[in-house]
Amino acid sequence: MNTVNSAQHVQSRTRDLGRFDAPVLVCGGAYSNLEAFKALLAAAERMAIPKNHIVHTGDVIAYCADAAATADLLHESGAPAILGNVEESLAASSPDCGCGFNEGSVCDKLAAEWFSYADAQTGPELRRWMQLLPYHLTFELSGRRVRAVHGSVQEVNRFMFSSLPDSAFEAEFAHADADIVVAGHSGIPFTRQVGSRVWHNSGSVGLPANDGTPRVWFSVLTPERDGVHIEHHAFNYDHELTKSKMLQAGVCTEYAETLSSGVWPSLDVLPDVEKQSTGKPLDLSEPVFCPAPVAEEKSGAAPKTGAPAPTIQETA
Ligand SMILES: [Fe+2]
Repeated sequence: MNTVNSAQHVQSRTRDLGRFDAPVLVCGGAYSNLEAFKALLAAAERMAIPKNHIVHTGDVIAYCADAAATADLLHESGAPAILGNVEESLAASSPDCGCGFNEGSVCDKLAAEWFSYADAQTGPELRRWMQLLPYHLTFELSGRRVRAVHGSVQEVNRFMFSSLPDSAFEAEFAHADADIVVAGHSGIPFTRQVGSRVWHNSGSVGLPANDGTPRVWFSVLTPERDGVHIEHHAFNYDHELTKSKMLQAGVCTEYAETLSSGVWPSLDVLPDVEKQSTGKPLDLSEPVFCPAPVAEEKSGAAPKTGAPAPTIQETA
């Protein structure tokens, strides 16, 4: 599977959602976890966030037992979604998940198991839906341009973690044409400010964040008069039911244990900083504020807080 697509190819499969004047829920990595994805949709309903304001950043299918049912639920919800490496692989009937794991690693061996299980559940209608999913979504909040990607801007299966140096994020922003990038794939939520730009990962809905708790994650981006508030949200769901389905199906029992322990079965993909945080509960309660642009910023000046409010009209 070629996971590095040309910029022209990605551009041709980028969908612009227009401008939002109400909160947008960002989520990703539902990972065949039907109970968690249902709980996410219920949380959105309680927050009065409509389904066309829910952005899923890819990998609706992976480790858990309900591949087709979870993908069907996302498809039928009509929520804007992009293609993750798993959708890309299933759409192309590829022999592997395209996750980018090192060959022979524990992640690689487990991926062969869950991918083959998920592949057998994925019918032609779901594959056709995946074939039509965009690589990226773009939208505007409070005058800030947002780009939703799966791994990184340039590679669908690149792992971007909070501990990476500024240069790694700057290299991606150079191709983003965006002030805020929202991404998935890596499974650990974080928000990282690099200069005037923000890289945001909402974490995953379908698997805990390796922080020793069964919680799973989504985010809400709220347009305000003077900028965008970015908030992480953790939630609990009936993980014991999901776990029991996996054990009954005999699929990825190592990941079944993760649903309750909150610790990943392998840390192969993690940088040292994230490895050392294993089992330590995340606290992401502090929202991040991305100020609205001011006129002089268009000519290269730094952003300022308290900028005049842009005119926001919802078109999505
Ligand atoms: Fe992925």
